Parts: sequence; C-alpha cells; structure tokens
Amino acid sequence: MGKDTVTIKNNATGQELEIPLMRGTHGPATIDIGNLYSKLGIFTFDNGFKSTASCRSKITFIDGEEGVLLYRGYPIEQLAEKSNFLEVCYLLYYGELPTQDEYENFSRLITRHSMINEGMRSFYDGFWHNAHPMAIMVGVVGALSAFYHDSLEINNPRHQEISAYRLIAKLPTIAAASYKYSIGQPMVYPRNKMSYAENFLHMMFSVPAEDYVVNPLHAKALDLLFILHADHEQNASTSTVRLAGSSEANPFAAVSAGVGALWGPAHGGANEAVIKMLNEIGEVSAIPKFIERAKDKNDTFRLMGFGHRVYKSYDPRAKIIRKTAHDILATTSGNDKMLDIAMKLEEIALKDEYFIQRKLYPNVDFYSGIIYKAIKVPTNMYTVLFAIARTIGWITQWKEMISDPERVIGRPRQLYIGAEKRDYAPIASRK
Ligand code: SDX
Repeated sequence: MGKDTVTIKNNATGQELEIPLMRGTHGPATIDIGNLYSKLGIFTFDNGFKSTASCRSKITFIDGEEGVLLYRGYPIEQLAEKSNFLEVCYLLYYGELPTQDEYENFSRLITRHSMINEGMRSFYDGFWHNAHPMAIMVGVVGALSAFYHDSLEINNPRHQEISAYRLIAKLPTIAAASYKYSIGQPMVYPRNKMSYAENFLHMMFSVPAEDYVVNPLHAKALDLLFILHADHEQNASTSTVRLAGSSEANPFAAVSAGVGALWGPAHGGANEAVIKMLNEIGEVSAIPKFIERAKDKNDTFRLMGFGHRVYKSYDPRAKIIRKTAHDILATTSGNDKMLDIAMKLEEIALKDEYFIQRKLYPNVDFYSGIIYKAIKVPTNMYTVLFAIARTIGWITQWKEMISDPERVIGRPRQLYIGAEKRDYAPIASRK
C-alpha cells in the first residue's frame, strides 16, 4: 500500500481497490473514483457534492478555511485594487494578464459587440411588464443562439472566442433592456466611448429626453462588484453551465441554464433576498427576534447573505466591498437605515455561538445589495447584475470543459430508494 494512495475495501465481498492520490497546485488531495463501480460494484453518495471534485480546472482557486480567492493565481484583493473588469475578463479567459496592445484590442472588440440584433427587441414585447428581469434574461440569453448560426461549432476555438465576446458584450445590453421594458421606457443603445460599467449605467438610467451623466463613483463601485463576481470555481450555476455544455449544447444555451440556476435565493438571488430581509427586519431593535428565527429549525427564515458552502471564514469578497458600501453610502443623503441594520446584524451574528459554531460569516451578497441600492439599481435587478459579471466565469469554465481532451457527458448515478418492481393493476381493482 503506497503512501500516496487510498485503499477502499468492500468488506461485504472482501474486494479492495487501491487508488492513487491526485494532487493539484493548491487544495486537498483528490482520488479518482471513476473505476469504483466497475471494480467494487458500488457508487459513492455525496449530497450537495460537498466532498466531490467535478473537474480539473486552472481558472479559480478558493481556500474556504483561509478565505483565499485567486483568479488564474492572482489574489482577488490585488485585482480589486489594481485591475478593472475587462482586464479581469481577459485574464480569466486567456489565463494571463494582457499587454497594453492586447488589452486595447480586447476592449475594442468587446465594445463593438455590445449592440443586440434588432430582431431581439421584439422578444421583450412577449413578456408582461411585471416579468422578473431574470425570467427575461433566461429567455433572451438562450435566444442568442437563434441569431449566431455563424459561430456555433463548439470545438472551433474561433467560434468559442466569438461566442465569449458576444456574451460578455451583450449581457449588459440585454439586462438594461429588460429593466427599461419593465418600466415602459425606451431601450437605450450602448455608447462605444464609455467604459463597460459606465455603459451599463447609461443604458439603465439615461432617457432620450435629457442628458445623463454617469456618476464616476457609481461606475467604479460597479466595476469592482463585477470583478468580485466574475468567477468562483464550481458553484451551482457554473456547474450547471458545465453539465449543460457537456451534452454539446451551444454556449448560449449552456449560459442560459446558468442564469436560471443563479436566480435561486440560496445562490445568486441572495443579494435581492438580503435587501428584502433588511426591510423585513425594519429596525435595529428587531434584530434579536430575527436572529432567533434564523436559529429555529422549525422556521424557514435564514439570515440571507450569511453562510457559504466553501468559505468557513469571512468571504474575502465581502471584506473588500464592506468598505465600498460605507464609502458609497457616505455620499448618499443622510445615514442609510438599511446599512445601520446590516452593520448591527453583522455585529450581533458574528458574536452569536450558533453562527460561530457553524462558521457562518457574511458572504459577498450581504453587502452587494446595499451598494446596488445606493446606486439606485432596482432590487429585482440585483441578480441580473450578478449574471452580467458571472458570464465571463461561465463561458471560461465552459471553454475549459469543452476543450478537455478527456471530456465526457456528465451523467451522475443515484441511490434508488423507490418502490420494488411491481405489476400494473387495472383501475377497477385499485382501492
Ligand atoms: C453565493 O458556491 C458559491 O461559490 C456561491 C457564490 C458564488 O460566488 O457563486 O459564492 C455566491 O451563492 C453566496 C451564498 C449566498 N446565499 C445566501 O446568502 C443564502 C443564505 N445562506 C444559506 O442558504 C447557506 O449558508 C448556503 C446555501 C449559502 C450554504 O449552505 P450549506 O453549505 O449547504 O450549509 P447548510 O445548509 O448545510 O448549513 C449548515 C448549518 C445548518 O445548521 P445545522 O443543520 O448544522 O444545525 O448552518 C445553518 C444550517 O441551518 N445555516 C444557516 C444559514 N446558512 C446555514 N442558518 C441561518 N442562516 C443562514 N444563512
């Protein structure tokens, strides 16, 4: 028995399987259990995939115990301080920071793909005005594949690249259009002379009837939030994109599936849920009552924006934007009651044994909603902004999966606990 192996023994049959340990650049050793069923006739079971690596990846590394997040090896703190979202998109997609020429060329290409086909505008008319923007995003992003027949060969690197450019560039336009549609205002075309974040704010808040000047502090805060949300290894929505893409569906369909997975309040929908929770708490004095509800197993209430499957220490992204939340709100008129409640809630929860014992800390969604509110983004658009940012992560992870020479379609098995085999009974004989 080598020291760099794990031996699994089926005591019922006495069969043993020695499996070599696989080690990556960082992170826990991993065993490849691909032969387990054929050798020992057993499956593994891992509810929520808490101990399961679904792939090899070079893109993002997270150390949940230490609160470490690296994009292609670069610490998120350094990228947040020194980079910008489009440069981070280049880094994630190509694996290296761009030279000045590479950055300027990439930025120009993304900018020149920001308009959507005019035929897509009629898609919006099919939705009710009160449709949730995420419902529109799922539909319109998936429909992109109806317009780009010229680049759907999934194994063609050039098609992969142009699809990535189109998704990065068009998500803000599609997102802003879903907001404009919901408030009955005309959709606003992108402006190529603006930065990525400025352009999105312009498409969201400008109207044809008057000039609109983007607040540079808001654009800077938004660019930072896009950087922090860009990728996060194999989270639920990214795993959805990989699984959908493993069937060889086109990247637009796979990303549309990721949008749907992100929508849930346990995942990307948490930022919207945080604001709703803070509004429900209403007063600092009501916080203890809600903390008790969060602990009560018979109560479905949870502290939204707290806890994380991987981070068992402070989410490094939350640390970074906690300061931005204060900076942004310092510019708003008067103190923001919501931030007061959020800060008091964080203070009380971090001292409470229930949260300490379960290592429940604020995550990125706890503060992002407060910043979005301060820059006047409507609550139902918060997860849409998360989707805009995460698109580069989704399409990069999709490209890594599609390009993997060992790629196979993802097809998990199960532990069947249903009925024994039984015969059909005529309806007259049923009780
Ligand atoms: C994101 O995966 C990613 O990387 C996601 C993400 C990304 O960038 O892609 O980081 C983005 O989704 C951040 C998470 C946003 N979600 C929320 O803020 C929703 C509130 N959080 C919880 O729903 C929960 O913490 C999860 C879903 C985030 C994590 O759930 P886990 O890992 O499955 O943990 P669990 O449900 O097994 O909880 C462990 C214990 C349980 O108590 P016990 O049964 O041990 O007594 O902690 C409790 C839970 O009841 N718990 C909470 C809680 N989160 C967990 N109790 C109160 N409030 C909470 N928020």
